[in-house]
Amino acid sequence: MAYPTFVNIVEVGPRDGLQNEKQNVPTATKLELIRRLENSGLKQIEAAAFVSPKWVPQMADHSEVMREVMRSKRPGVGYPVLVPNLKGFEAALVAGVEEIAIFAAASEAFSQKNINCSIAESLDRFVPVMAAAKAANVKVRGYVSCVVGCPYQGEVPPQIVADVAHALYAMGCYEVSLGDTIGVGTPASVLAMLEAVAKRIPLKFIAGHYHDTYGMAIANIHASLQFGISTFDSSIAGLGGCPYAAGASGNVATEDVVYLLNGLGLESGISLDSLVETADWISNALGRQPASRVSRAMLAKCQKS
Ligand code: HMG
Ligand code: MG
Repeated sequence: MAYPTFVNIVEVGPRDGLQNEKQNVPTATKLELIRRLENSGLKQIEAAAFVSPKWVPQMADHSEVMREVMRSKRPGVGYPVLVPNLKGFEAALVAGVEEIAIFAAASEAFSQKNINCSIAESLDRFVPVMAAAKAANVKVRGYVSCVVGCPYQGEVPPQIVADVAHALYAMGCYEVSLGDTIGVGTPASVLAMLEAVAKRIPLKFIAGHYHDTYGMAIANIHASLQFGISTFDSSIAGLGGCPYAAGASGNVATEDVVYLLNGLGLESGISLDSLVETADWISNALGRQPASRVSRAMLAKCQKS
């Protein structure tokens, strides 16, 4: 299949990127990060998670972050937040949120560790969330985690991914993001999984969410682009990891994805130079180097010249 001409990037750094950060990241730093990401041209920025602060302490300031984000929101930019249940939805609504993401897993063991319930219970829990979101005119994105492998259960059959993805789609999610949570996929296993899902959901409603633990995320994105997927999640500077998937690294870095797209001549509307500046800024704020190979190379080139 031919490449899509325009590729949508969903930036998940402020949520997926920061959720596992052990040091306290001040609310002001999170807000500045979101502003800089907007300035780079990103149109979808997952900005926080309305999950239990006992489970994910780094997201405890979700209401403060979202009140300010929504007060100064940019036209044409969406700011989804993760919501696990009705309690999270109600708090998100009070903060002015206009878009949420619900998250299920394709692995029973991961579902229990991550949200303390079975896959079926999680889908039941989302029914009232979907109804409340519809009533409040809030858009809902869906995630499936562990679409290739699970840290507790090993290999995950594509058929189960397809079942869970279809359940989210049938519930009314406008897009289903397929998460290789622990980054074990290769183009072969990712394509086998996509083939199963694409039999149940049209390609235009599917997004790829690939973590880069084994360095395969860019190869998986390239294979997915050729398969016809045109939306990918990524995280500035490759920040992140999942608190309930030990050893999982961050999502593929946004800079690496945009470098790939630029090289393929595909439009994303995002400035690579501005991303690299932001990657440098947030990495300095966190006291480390960007995980992104592209950022490291471009920053090293700047220092030499
Ligand atoms: P639980 O303990 O089973 O919930 O947790 P509960 O209903 O029994 O409530 C326990 C306590 O939590 C109560 O407080 C509730 O009020 C409170 P207490 O009476 O003890 O003081 N509570 C909440 N507080 C704030 N916000 C809420 C909320 N809900 C209950 N929304 C729960 C169940 C789902 C809440 C918990 O397991 C949780 O928050 N899990 C979130 C875990 C998480 O955020 N994981 C990372 C994101 S997933 C991910 O990264 C994968 C993804 O990126 C895709 C991929 O890579 O594959 C999306
Ligand atoms: Mg993730």
